[in-house]
Amino acid sequence: METRRTKLLFLACATFSIIHLVKSQNQQGFISLDCGLPPNESPYNEPLTNLTYISDANFTQGGKTGNIQNNSDTGFISKPYRVLRYFPDGKRNCYSLKVTEGTKYLIRTFFIYGNYDGLNTSPRFDLYLGPNIWTSIDVLRPGVADGAVEEIIHITRSSILDICLVKTGTSTPMISAIELRPLRYDTYAARTGSLKSLEHIYFTNSDKAIRYPKDVYDRVWLPYLEPEWSQINTKLNVSDFTDGYDPPRDVVTTAAIPTNVSEPLTYTWNLESSDDETYCYLYFAEIQQLKANETREFKIMANGRIDYISYRPRSFGAQTLSNLASLKCEGGVCRVQLSKTPKSTLPPLLNALEIFSVINFPQSETSTDDVIAIKNIQSTYKLSRISWQGDPCVPKQFSWIGLSCNVIDISTPPRIIVLDLSSSGLTGFILPSIQNLTQLRELDLSNNNLTGEVPEFLATMKSLLLIDLRGNNLRGSVPRALLERADKDGLKLFVDPNIKQRGSRKPTSRLVAIVASISCVAVIITVLVLVFIFRRRNSLTRKVIRPSLEMKNRRFTNSEVKEMTNNFQVVLGKGGFGVVCHGLLNNEQVAVKVLSQSSTQGYKEFKTEVELLLRVHHVNLVSLIGYCDEGNDLALIYEFMENGNLKEHLSGKRSGHGGSILNWSSRLKIAIESALGIEYLHIGCKPPMVHRDVKSTNILLGQHFEAKLADFGLSRSFLVGSKTHVSTNVAGTLGYLDPEYYKKNWLTEKSDVYSFGILLLEIITGQPVIDESREKSYIVEWAKSMLANGDIESIMDPKLHRDYDTGSSWKALELAMSCINPSSTERPNMTRVAHELNECLEIYNLSKRSQDANSTNPTGHSISFLSDTPSAR
Ligand SMILES: *[C@@H]1O[C@H](CO)[C@@H](O)[C@H](O)[C@H]1NC(C)=O
Ligand SMILES: *[C@@H]1O[C@H](CO)[C@@H](O)[C@H](O)[C@H]1NC(C)=O
Ligand SMILES: *[C@@H]1O[C@H](CO)[C@@H](O)[C@H](O)[C@H]1NC(C)=O
Ligand SMILES: *[C@@H]1O[C@H](CO)[C@@H](O)[C@H](O)[C@H]1NC(C)=O
Ligand SMILES: *[C@@H]1O[C@H](CO)[C@@H](O)[C@H](O)[C@H]1NC(C)=O
Ligand SMILES: *[C@@H]1O[C@H](CO)[C@@H](O)[C@H](O)[C@H]1NC(C)=O
Ligand SMILES: *[C@@H]1O[C@H](CO)[C@@H](O)[C@H](O)[C@H]1NC(C)=O
Ligand SMILES: *[C@@H]1O[C@H](CO)[C@@H](O)[C@H](O)[C@H]1NC(C)=O
Repeated sequence: METRRTKLLFLACATFSIIHLVKSQNQQGFISLDCGLPPNESPYNEPLTNLTYISDANFTQGGKTGNIQNNSDTGFISKPYRVLRYFPDGKRNCYSLKVTEGTKYLIRTFFIYGNYDGLNTSPRFDLYLGPNIWTSIDVLRPGVADGAVEEIIHITRSSILDICLVKTGTSTPMISAIELRPLRYDTYAARTGSLKSLEHIYFTNSDKAIRYPKDVYDRVWLPYLEPEWSQINTKLNVSDFTDGYDPPRDVVTTAAIPTNVSEPLTYTWNLESSDDETYCYLYFAEIQQLKANETREFKIMANGRIDYISYRPRSFGAQTLSNLASLKCEGGVCRVQLSKTPKSTLPPLLNALEIFSVINFPQSETSTDDVIAIKNIQSTYKLSRISWQGDPCVPKQFSWIGLSCNVIDISTPPRIIVLDLSSSGLTGFILPSIQNLTQLRELDLSNNNLTGEVPEFLATMKSLLLIDLRGNNLRGSVPRALLERADKDGLKLFVDPNIKQRGSRKPTSRLVAIVASISCVAVIITVLVLVFIFRRRNSLTRKVIRPSLEMKNRRFTNSEVKEMTNNFQVVLGKGGFGVVCHGLLNNEQVAVKVLSQSSTQGYKEFKTEVELLLRVHHVNLVSLIGYCDEGNDLALIYEFMENGNLKEHLSGKRSGHGGSILNWSSRLKIAIESALGIEYLHIGCKPPMVHRDVKSTNILLGQHFEAKLADFGLSRSFLVGSKTHVSTNVAGTLGYLDPEYYKKNWLTEKSDVYSFGILLLEIITGQPVIDESREKSYIVEWAKSMLANGDIESIMDPKLHRDYDTGSSWKALELAMSCINPSSTERPNMTRVAHELNECLEIYNLSKRSQDANSTNPTGHSISFLSDTPSAR
């Protein structure tokens, strides 16, 4: 057993028998990447195998080159595995290989650590095949001293094969080599799924591994013999009757027999779990000249069940036998046993065997046409975005930033439905490849440096509902067909006013309306139209504004305020500004914020808030019903939010009074709605606003826990265009303050993103932002120290009682961490934040659904895309 488990060294090291003058094999279809090899040393022929390795530089975007340390442990490792590529940046890094679609490949990846980074730790990360997880790599897992090898037999589904390394904790993913070998399609047939190699063994007392060119498919056969076995071999030729498995001559000219000829020959192997399914390929060839009175005949049993009652190996002819249906093994321990029949005069024999377990890759890759088109767009526009690697759409947590996809179920190829390349520095023409994205609904190319004309083909893309081309250097006129679509089909078209609208008789209502009216109100109308068009069933993202409390935005007298609050009888809360009282106005509940004269929130803030709230309206911003501005008496009258502020719920303060702890999906919904409120301030208002005081006490919750952003006293508008920031005095709340804003006094909307990141951390962890009783008192430091352990449970709020899934919780946590990136330019914008949060909720719902309804057929599920509509433009 031990000898078998320490097999890895053999694969990577130079113990292969030196090539004799075997018939020269071509390496047709082989892909041999030496990862990390400097391009100027590529290609080269590895002297022991004569395999031609090339540098991986053309197949991946990022990463750096490392060299394993040379010492007595690593000195014999052969050249392709001595350099490696490691990926310090980005979450997912991928290799994209051109393969032949529908071909069965042996795919092998090597990870030889060799202490290249001097850290002497075992790198741990996940390996993905396209959108599916392949395995988790722990390079130096106990028992394997030098590295890891993962190998599968897999049929390619498209002409592109992505192999991705995904960071899971703090260690840096690395890889030494990737090898692809086409196999015959009719060999190694699993009923379902692909095959993961566990063993290729031949029975010999030699210590030579065998691979290419002796093995035409470059399988790596390792030598093995158990102590109670003896080796027999032959110098004669053995013919091949294996139907395509082509075992190398050296593999079948040697065999094992039990030393005690009356004993059976037993081989056992372990599966990772007892649920795993396995396939076993046995190679037999009679390699002794039998005398007339000699017989070799044996029974073959797998896990105690008889597969062959009497098998006689073919004289100097190799055959392979395997289980046609996959096998499960009790406790994950599998056994093949060969025992001689009563007739037999000779013990059983076994020349070689291969063991596989079944591995499933259920998630479909994104439609190949979409992938080819988007990659073409990526390369033509020279977009180097770290997230733009691997499958564009799935898994969702790694989907390319700027895309949204329609993912119906795992067996349907996802489709790209939103392409947002706004402000991406694009130059040149609007690319024809875009029309190959045949299900695209939204195309946003605004704020680039695109030139040329608005292309005709956009009109033929029937799926398009929104096109935004503003802020480019386009010339000419809008094609008539496109105008007609805007007119008749409700296509929303945004173009700069300098582009002529050719042929349009009457400057059509919709186009003009949309081009001209970029005010908050028009935006709301747009939202309503969108809501109507797409008839979202569970529209959680953009709700219709409640037209409650008819008399909006009214000025009240002090005596009216006294009356509605019954002389300030019921105090809901207190703050530096004064008190908030409960009130009744025409039998509707209201909240009245009464500013005390000694208030730190002065008249200026009061005015800011009134002016802002009179101007903006959004379902996720608390609405102002009226105000009082009478001498020294200042009051603000808001809609009443039944469930108080978010902080009370997170801290558990409210749960004692018949309330309940917010569960994970409610928390995600609250986060989404808060994000949408902030997004509206940033992009829905003209001029845009920065809230400057996003925090959990400023998120109010209504009767049904709908979230609204409150307290706009510190809000500032900022200019867009040439200037992306304004200088102001620093204001905000300790703990939520953007350190960059604090240092530079530059205010941008990204400061709100930082505060939102802190808020999101609170929502996820239930921890106070600053808690002196914690070892790390600041929530950011605390979260980072917990993250270093890579244990999600220790980070998540224990009050959730583990009722969340790891997918969405990790994603939310990563999003929070990206929001609090010290560099504001690295932070996502709020549109992205809201989008990602929506995906978190969907991931959670999907996992819930698959938990709940294991027996029933899952219903079709489609990503809502309204949520990514930058509707507030
Ligand atoms: C090694 O491979 C090259 C082609 O890559 C081939 O021309 C040569 O004959 C091979 N040498 C041997 C010894 O097989
Ligand atoms: C990368 O691709 C280019 C273009 O096909 C080719 O000229 C170059 O040799 C390749 N580089 C390496 C290291 O294989
Ligand atoms: C590595 O070290 C071994 C001895 O430990 C030596 O034989 C070998 O040539 C060295 N290889 C390189 C690439 O330095
Ligand atoms: C084995 O086969 C090869 C080619 O088929 C032949 O040249 C050789 O003579 C054979 N050897 C023996 C021992 O039969
Ligand atoms: C061989 O195996 C048989 C049956 O298990 C046993 O009875 C016998 O003692 C063994 N012989 C030797 C030499 O170990
Ligand atoms: C088979 O025959 C040979 C003589 O040809 C004899 O030496 C041997 O003992 C016999 N073996 C058996 C198992 O009967
Ligand atoms: C677009 O689709 C056409 C027809 O399927 C194809 O010929 C063309 O190569 C595709 N172009 C791109 C860039 O995907
Ligand atoms: C756009 O392109 C023009 C001409 O190539 C150049 O002068 C201008 O600086 C570019 N603008 C931006 C924002 O890149």
